[in-house]
Amino acid sequence: MTHPIITIDGPSGAGKGTVAYRLAEHFGFELLDSGALYRIVGLMAFKQGLLDAGRADENELANLTASLNLSFRPNTATKTVEILIDDKPLTDDIRNETVGGYASKVAVFPKVRTALLDLQRNIAHGKKGLVADGRDMGTVIFPDAPVKVFLTASAKARADRRVLQLQTAGKVADYEAILADIIERDKRDENRSVAPSRPAADALVIDSSDKSADVVFDEILAFAQGRL
Ligand code: DC
Repeated sequence: MTHPIITIDGPSGAGKGTVAYRLAEHFGFELLDSGALYRIVGLMAFKQGLLDAGRADENELANLTASLNLSFRPNTATKTVEILIDDKPLTDDIRNETVGGYASKVAVFPKVRTALLDLQRNIAHGKKGLVADGRDMGTVIFPDAPVKVFLTASAKARADRRVLQLQTAGKVADYEAILADIIERDKRDENRSVAPSRPAADALVIDSSDKSADVVFDEILAFAQGRL
C-alpha cells in the first residue's frame, strides 16, 4: 500500500500553504512546508556571505545545507509543524520576499536539493499521513503519492493577494516590485535543470486565479476521494 500522502506543488502565492493546512487538519495528517527548508538554507547562506555577487558555489552551499541541524516539531497550539534549527525554532522572519529570493537561488543547485532529500522523505515515516507543499513534492520527493495537486494562479492574481496580505498586516506594499519579484522567481524555479517547478503527469492542476480557498479545498477533497 502506498503511504497516504497529498502533494501540493506550485508557485508562491497560489494558496498552497492555506489549502495544505486545511487538508492536514481535515485528514489529521502532518504538514511539510518544504519551502521553509529552502528559505532557512537561503537565509543562512546569505548571512554567511555565500550569496555575495558572483559567489554562489554549489559545493559550498551543499556543505552548508548538510551542516545545518534541522528537525521538525509539531506545534499543537498552532497545529503546524515547526522547523527547528539546533533544536530551537528559527527566530528570523523567513516569510518575506527577500528570503524567498535567497531560497530560490540556493534551490537551483542539485547538491543542495540532494542534501535536503532524506530530511523531507523521513518526515512521512510512521505518520498517519502527510500533506507536503513545495515545487517538487509530486515529481521528485514523493513520486508515488496517491494524491498530487499542482496549484497555480496568474502572476497578477498572486501579486494582488500578496499586497492585500501585507496591507492587512499594516505593512507597506509596492505592487510593481512584488509582481516583478514573482515573475523573476517563477522563471528561476521553472527553468532550473533539476526538479523544476512543474505538475507531475498524474497531478490535478488547479488555477486558483478566480477561485476562493473554499472552492480549491472542495476540488481537492473530491479528487482525493477514493485515492488515499
Ligand atoms: O514555497 P516557498 O515560496 O516558501 O519557496 C521558496 C523557494 O524555495 C522557491 O522560490 C523555490 C524553492 N523551493 C524549491 O525549490 N523546492 C521546494 N520543494 C520548495 C521550495
